[in-house]
Amino acid sequence: MSVLLVLDLLLVVVVGGLWAAAWPLRSAKAGAAVLIAAVLATAARATVVALLGGAGWWFVPDRLVTAVPLTLLSGVVGVALVRRRTPPAPVLIAAAYVAVAGIAMQFLVGYPVTVGAVAAVFGPGVAALLVWRLPARAARVAVVATAAVALLAAGVTAAVGSRLPDRLDHNTHGADSGHAAHVGPGSAPGVSVADLRGPSRPPTRKFTLTARAATVTLPSGATVDAWTFDSQLPGPELRVTRGDVVEVTLRNELPGIGVTLHWHGYDVPAGEDGVAGVTQDAVPPGGTFTYRFEAKDVGSYWYHSHEMSSEAVRKGLYGTLVVTPDGTESAETDITLPVHRFDTGATMLGGSDRRETRDVPAGRRVRLRLVNTDNDAHRVAVGGTPYTVSAIDGRDLNGPTVLTAETTLRLPAGGRYDVVFTMPAGAVHVMVDGQDSDGLLLGAGAMPAHPAGTDLDITRYGTPAPGPFGRYNKDYTLVLDRLVRFLDGVPSYAYTVNGGVYPDIPPLMVDRGDAVRTTVVNRGTESHPMHLHGHHVLVLSRNGRPVTGSPLWLDTFDVLPGEVWQVAFRADNPGIWLDHCHNLPHAKQGMVLHVAYRGVTSPFAVGRHTPNHPE
Ligand code: C2O
Ligand code: CU
Repeated sequence: MSVLLVLDLLLVVVVGGLWAAAWPLRSAKAGAAVLIAAVLATAARATVVALLGGAGWWFVPDRLVTAVPLTLLSGVVGVALVRRRTPPAPVLIAAAYVAVAGIAMQFLVGYPVTVGAVAAVFGPGVAALLVWRLPARAARVAVVATAAVALLAAGVTAAVGSRLPDRLDHNTHGADSGHAAHVGPGSAPGVSVADLRGPSRPPTRKFTLTARAATVTLPSGATVDAWTFDSQLPGPELRVTRGDVVEVTLRNELPGIGVTLHWHGYDVPAGEDGVAGVTQDAVPPGGTFTYRFEAKDVGSYWYHSHEMSSEAVRKGLYGTLVVTPDGTESAETDITLPVHRFDTGATMLGGSDRRETRDVPAGRRVRLRLVNTDNDAHRVAVGGTPYTVSAIDGRDLNGPTVLTAETTLRLPAGGRYDVVFTMPAGAVHVMVDGQDSDGLLLGAGAMPAHPAGTDLDITRYGTPAPGPFGRYNKDYTLVLDRLVRFLDGVPSYAYTVNGGVYPDIPPLMVDRGDAVRTTVVNRGTESHPMHLHGHHVLVLSRNGRPVTGSPLWLDTFDVLPGEVWQVAFRADNPGIWLDHCHNLPHAKQGMVLHVAYRGVTSPFAVGRHTPNHPE
């Protein structure tokens, strides 16, 4: 599918170019060759569109609008060519117009296709036709002027409408986007996210994290000008026990930059979620904020700033959160391994950007907590021992089977895999992205081999178990794409959901107790690791094929180009929650929406006259 989507992107441009050239070149020497090429390219595109349609209706309506008429027109041209005649001029002109309109449909419209969009794309062509046929000069001028004014007005409206207001709050911003409905008829009087806080009883574990700028020297000797927690990369690991009441005080000593703490994958009460402008104001330089939550779930998680997150996380404002089952020091060697890449190009595994070695006695149980804190997926290989993936995204898998070095683990941005094995007599090597000179080497002996592997398909790993959902009372579809949109007034090749960009994507409205099913479709050519705050989703199917392995409860799932995922969650954690792509530059360029509980309001706001810029 990925190949088809890229091919289609290329073909739509090639087809547009060839038909646009065909009429001007018709009597030149190359004319016939261009015509033949145009007909063949059109046939190729028709085939690709048909194949895309096989993956689901979401992939084709915008393509069919122009591909069908263009295929018919090119059929006429093909017949003319076979008869060695020059194709009629109106056919060539129409083909050129429709082919170029195909480019517009691809980059401006996407899915869904609205009547307005079709009118905007074909309107100029109809206007041109009128101008050409109308006898009176005045009438022609009128048509041209009307078309020009209409297009200009549409453009200006879109640009102005995309400008972030000085202050955009989440309770009133436009009935059209649905945010007005946070407090709806029949719902309880509004509760503010600011009041949905963690337990007030005294904490059993207290931490302070101080955000500050620091030049950090990595183990290889390379330096990074970083934004850090406590001057270190990554930030301190917070390790607590199930049942703890955790209190974390955030202090901000960064110059001129706000900061927050978001507990990625930890389903805390909404007021502790740490999203600037949604659940709190960004903590200003010199300020503090205290988070408090109960450690109900064991597993591997991480934390990061959610103010200008696309910049802040990359620069170092991240760390890991580990919740263990009980207070006793377990018999495991337990190593947390966040994978992160800095702007300097340095890639860190855990706390090191070069090969680390560690002594582990043979026979000891080892748990590796792989955490991807980067924007891209990373491929991890474990050589030298059979192992199991015991948990993903902080949730234990049911009946995971033993894997060998021939299986690689593709860790999506934001995701976590727990790898468990018994230390063998020889060495074990953890390799990231095929770099066998780096990584983590456990034990003694020769470097183990890394045979070429295939990625673990998590939807077929482990043993099934009955799911908790009987039926679903809410059904949503999110179509992810890349389209030209105005972002805060600036035209951009943006990342869209259902054709819109943040903050104009209608929220998914839910009521407490809802069983919500969501279909996520990726029409683009890049993968989108989608992350829902405050909830784990149960994966139901991928590309129409149900999950046949262990139940998969994820907070971040990687939707590859052309994929269709169906997931479900129980609305059991009232709040206003972000749902976004965790390739954070994609989030910054539009791919963010909210899951909003009816009746929950937020006193916080994003916009130029606020301290808050969540992405
Ligand atoms: Cu890890 Cu909204 O983020
Ligand atoms: Cu993305």
